[in-house]
Amino acid sequence: MRPVRKAVLPVAGFGTRAMPAAKATPKNLLNVFDRPILAHVVEEGRAAGIEHFIFIVGRGQGPIEDYFDHNVELESQLEAKGKVDILALATADLPQPGQMSFIRQMRANGLGHAVWCARDLIGDEPFAVMLPDMLMDAAPAALKQCIDAYQQVGGNIVAVEPAPPGQAHKYGIVSLGDTAAGFDGRLKTMTGMVEKPPPGTEPSNLFISGRYVLHPEIFALLADHQKGAGGEIQLTDAMLRLMAIQDFHALEYQGTTYDCGDVLGLLRANLAFGLKHAEHGGAVRDLAAGLLKG
Ligand code: UTP
Repeated sequence: MRPVRKAVLPVAGFGTRAMPAAKATPKNLLNVFDRPILAHVVEEGRAAGIEHFIFIVGRGQGPIEDYFDHNVELESQLEAKGKVDILALATADLPQPGQMSFIRQMRANGLGHAVWCARDLIGDEPFAVMLPDMLMDAAPAALKQCIDAYQQVGGNIVAVEPAPPGQAHKYGIVSLGDTAAGFDGRLKTMTGMVEKPPPGTEPSNLFISGRYVLHPEIFALLADHQKGAGGEIQLTDAMLRLMAIQDFHALEYQGTTYDCGDVLGLLRANLAFGLKHAEHGGAVRDLAAGLLKG
């Protein structure tokens, strides 16, 4: 079984649901309690054994590269002033040189197109896709659970989770077949998927939640730039075509997902991460209680 060493993180979308905050700041650098969203997602990738992170970026997203690089001036100032704690925070998320790559998508033609942009860096090996506005709080890390499933059954793995009651028609929903051994019945053969099925026609209540293990054959299927829903090159369309020749499994991963792509989801993530923070959790609880009292 070939290991999953590389992850593609597409961040080149316009982030319309996060306007106006995402107008001049990359959406994924918005904060979730103590660090940008992306820092949490990269931590999840590292916990899953990812060695190389490939960001698909767009115009104005240079600050993402800067976040994951040294700021020599700042660091030498902090060092000179003996502010070692702050220096540790400022450098905590840095990769080793060569562990991150940045590719310009050039036009936001859709998620499938963004993933296709990584083809040369991925080469001929299975890889992960992490949608970074979906923040997953899980132990083991959500992507690690997917890779564990891949190591058991091979093929392609898609993380799924139950849609809120009555909301399945808003998501990409999977159809399921047999249950695989282990994983408490949460790993199932995937037989199809449908984007935003009309209410009452949903094949299940499980939606595709933003972590994938895919095989490099997907790139040939994305290469014809076939447009789908919304006039965009959709990853799900290529996955459906890949499903004709390779196995897919859906894993109902264990954990909580925070959709940080809109203002309420981001607030929810901030509260949740604040409340469980080892140092500040108590203060966050007091602060929230005080606000609720009015
Ligand atoms: P979304 O559909 O959530 O798009 O893309 P978005 O632009 O980020 O957000 P909204 O819906 O307009 O608010 C899912 C992921 O795919 C990336 C996005 O950046 C996001 O992380 N993406 C999407 C690209 O990198 N390129 C694209 O062309 C489209």
